[in-house]
Amino acid sequence: MQVLEQVLLAPYTTFGIGGPARWFVEASTEDDVLEAVRFAQKRNVPLFVLGGGSNLLVSDAGFPGVVLRISLKGIEQKKTSESAMFSVAAGEDWDAFVTLAVGQNCAGIECLAGIPGTVGGTPVQNVGAYGQEVAETIRLVRALDLRAMEYVELDAKECGFAYRRSILNSSERGRYIVTRVDYWLRSSLNASLSYADLKRYFQNWTRQPTLSEVSSAVREIRHQKGMLIVAGDPDCRSAGSFFKNPIISAEYFARLTASMDGMSVPSYPAAYGQVKIPAAWLLDQAGFHKGYALGRAGISSRHTLALINRGGASASDMTALRDAIVAKVLERFAIRLEPEPVWVG
Ligand code: EPU
Repeated sequence: MQVLEQVLLAPYTTFGIGGPARWFVEASTEDDVLEAVRFAQKRNVPLFVLGGGSNLLVSDAGFPGVVLRISLKGIEQKKTSESAMFSVAAGEDWDAFVTLAVGQNCAGIECLAGIPGTVGGTPVQNVGAYGQEVAETIRLVRALDLRAMEYVELDAKECGFAYRRSILNSSERGRYIVTRVDYWLRSSLNASLSYADLKRYFQNWTRQPTLSEVSSAVREIRHQKGMLIVAGDPDCRSAGSFFKNPIISAEYFARLTASMDGMSVPSYPAAYGQVKIPAAWLLDQAGFHKGYALGRAGISSRHTLALINRGGASASDMTALRDAIVAKVLERFAIRLEPEPVWVG
């Protein structure tokens, strides 16, 4: 295991922002992961686990402890005539795995194409898009339990999945380091077409699109919305959605609608009779439109929820924009937006 010092983190994030890690270790085996953890424990310094860096905002001061980059590779598969189990190492690129599965006519993650990041990050925030979320297809998560200092396997139920949430980023945050995820996919040609954007895309088709046609459509839609990383295009230099879509009570939703002078409030049903409203709509209503700029930070010209580094932005430029948005939406709607990216440092 090689330990590097003072490694700039900006190149490891899709935002392209962040100061140095005091120590930086790349793990390609489970033993490396253990060794890196012990290295941090011995020095009594914090540990941060880095995957694809697609959901991170790293501070300008960097990270004062050990950054552990998960580079475990390998995909094993067991196929039957009706299904396939893919055991995927945490450091594998997510989108490459989607392409591999779709290429073998395995269904269940075709709508999750084009999402930047690694496989190990997917259970943590229960990645979801275009009508699918990984909670539906994950069977097992293998992880190092830092409390017991041993590898454990969590089934989907133990992961406690909910919207953008699992125990890994909530009740047990910091306890586990994911090293492998098992995906159970159906051998099928039938793709999932539940999300409005996708239905619209295929509305004039006279036949059912294939899995790979749906994946391509998702990539195209993501690109149109600035949610696909395109090298050199600052309009896409983001961490995807910067805020979660808030979930409010049905009573508050009724009051909100009544206060909008006849304008309808977009909404989706959420668990326990609650209502999910698009954060992008709240931003727009609060005056933060596509193309908005605050110094070197800004909002993509393609989607209101994609906060971007317009070029040379620092973490504090991004947090100034974040704070301005949170304050305005709170004042206007009494809803406190919650950022989706993890803050490091
Ligand atoms: N809207 C606006 N302005 C915009 C864009 C959207 O007002 O510029 C409103 C519209 O009312 C629109 C609604 O927001 O109907 C929903 O927009 P969209 O379909 O683009 O979805 P989203 O809620 O903004 C969520 C996820 C995305 C995921 C898409 C597609 C969250 C926080 N975001 O976005 O996930 O790709 O749905 O399923 O749940 C991510 O988490 O990083 C991410 C990109």
